[in-house]
Amino acid sequence: MFKAVIFDLDGVITDTAAFHFVAWKKLGEKLGIELTESFNEELKGVDRIESLRRILALRNQELDFSNEEKAVLATEKNDYYVTLIQQITPNDLLPGISDLLKDLKKNHIKVGLASASKNAPMILNQLGLTNAFDTIVDPATLSKGKPDPEIFVKACEQLLITPSEAIGIEDAYSGVQAINDANMLSVGVGDAETLSAADYVFSTTANLTFEELMHIWELKNY
Ligand code: G6P
Ligand code: MG
Repeated sequence: MFKAVIFDLDGVITDTAAFHFVAWKKLGEKLGIELTESFNEELKGVDRIESLRRILALRNQELDFSNEEKAVLATEKNDYYVTLIQQITPNDLLPGISDLLKDLKKNHIKVGLASASKNAPMILNQLGLTNAFDTIVDPATLSKGKPDPEIFVKACEQLLITPSEAIGIEDAYSGVQAINDANMLSVGVGDAETLSAADYVFSTTANLTFEELMHIWELKNY
């Protein structure tokens, strides 16, 4: 039996992608860079500064800004994003997640958070989930972002388990790669084609139950 489940936040526990998009779009307008929803997909799981770098790269403007100027722009986006996420409530939990977290606790399975978002503690608070997690990795302590496995390995270290005893759940391609390279069982939520590297993909969190996770674990380990 697995000993822990490590969750991504954005797109797995709640859907913040739309808020990120609105905030980046506003910054993009100021810079004269138009952002599309399909490009926004590529920013899933990508940290704040790297997201800005990719946005500037759309117009080959990456080198037009110093690191200090990029930090100011990223803060501007974040200030707006933070005002947007104030509206998140426990009703914004994705389907099935509340029951899954309860069932994991009931069965003494540890629960960790591996999100690149520096706003994760605030979002968990808005969702009423601050006490639902046994550990949260602080992304400020990481040297590499996803797809590097560091964040998932660190979550396991913080829970005092080995990655082979854990399941990771992600909605982003880069996140699934990170889970795989951490040597954990990977579960994707979303498009089966995009997430084909995952050991198992659910089209929606509504189907992500404790029973299903046990089933997948048995298939993989016996
Ligand atoms: C998650 C989201 C990304 C976001 C990143 C950093 O991984 O999927 O879209 O850029 O977190 O979020 P932050 O709240 O720190 O700007
Ligand atoms: Mg995500």
